[in-house]
Amino acid sequence: MAGSDRPRDGRRLSADALVQAAREAREHAVATFSHFKVGAALETADGSVVTGCNVENATYGLTICAERVAMFKALSEGHRQFTRIAIVADTDAPTPPCGACRQILWEFAGNLEIHLANLGDHKGVHQLKDLLPLPFDARLL
Ligand code: THU
Repeated sequence: MAGSDRPRDGRRLSADALVQAAREAREHAVATFSHFKVGAALETADGSVVTGCNVENATYGLTICAERVAMFKALSEGHRQFTRIAIVADTDAPTPPCGACRQILWEFAGNLEIHLANLGDHKGVHQLKDLLPLPFDARLL
């Protein structure tokens, strides 16, 4: 599925379709240094899907993960409410979002539903609140 396609019948996308969108996004990963390709597909409240992949560069440190690419793309396109994200890597054990991504996802999506998968299987569903207990956010400022 392409970047911002909506489900044609207006209903919620299946989890498998969201995972498939993340698998396709992963193909675009710029993983020149780690060769570890990740894809993400973020579902918005209106049923759009915005995808992302990791983008590495020669500084190493300015690498950005697939999840943050998807979120920043979505925000830049005007989306402000989110329901689910699918994250895909080619590993047997599922790849959960890193700490930086958990923080950004919490900031802009709150308690997102997180679907982890690899190229063949859907590996599980988590709530972001369980992956980021006691979060720092604007309520504490
Ligand atoms: N990476 C992601 O894109 N998302 C994750 O959830 C974990 C790690 C990327 C960052 C880097 O390009 C590569 O995977 C290896 O860490």
